[in-house]
Amino acid sequence: MKWIDVLNYKELSEEAAKIIKERINNSPNLTIGLATGSTPIGLYEELIKAYKHGELSFSGVTSYNLDEYIGIDINSPQSYYQFMFQNLFNHVDIQKEKVHIPNGNTTDLQVECAQYEKLIKNSGGIDIQVLGIGNNGHIAFNEPGTSFDAKTHVVKLDDSTIAANARFFNNKDEVPVQAITMGIGTIMKSKEILLLISGKGKQEAIEKLKSGVVTEDFPASILHKHPNVTVIITNN
Ligand code: PGA
Repeated sequence: MKWIDVLNYKELSEEAAKIIKERINNSPNLTIGLATGSTPIGLYEELIKAYKHGELSFSGVTSYNLDEYIGIDINSPQSYYQFMFQNLFNHVDIQKEKVHIPNGNTTDLQVECAQYEKLIKNSGGIDIQVLGIGNNGHIAFNEPGTSFDAKTHVVKLDDSTIAANARFFNNKDEVPVQAITMGIGTIMKSKEILLLISGKGKQEAIEKLKSGVVTEDFPASILHKHPNVTVIITNN
């Protein structure tokens, strides 16, 4: 696990964008795994800037998002579908048919999970996966206690995750209680992982991750077993 310590969020976003830009420019048909949440927003802004300056094209890129709420309309501003289009896809030349976000509104969630897993496999797997981390150590919506082998599956969100995500809704009661998420097994199959950690609220997660103890009680700890992880981190 390679750690890059940076001074602030701006540097974290620039550093992450530098890596993604390089990977896409070296491999224009790259398959990228993308994350939502506050942390990657600055990275997406940097990627949009690079696209607008002609330094980067997403035209050959295939994307897979980590997760989506269940039971929220994709047109709702809080859906991860909307998040991705507003914060990245609407502003770059990615082809809509190459964008994949789990569908949390389907009648057969199990089929959706199996299909998502199959689509990733058929794309040749994820070349680089962007990740954030929850203070409880979750990666995507894999909450503490999730099996390290899990594939894309339906999860019940932790109370702490619901409380953390309530900031995007009018109140806590509006936050969906379930989601579809790539499993830890799915994430671990990515060829490369870029974990972004920003903010004072992540201190507990940072300490546990740095301890090196690998346990299902702290999902991100499995990343110690992955051969190609870069962590970009700022305490500010
Ligand atoms: P954040 O969320 O980027 O909004 O802090 C990260 C996460 O919960 O995985």
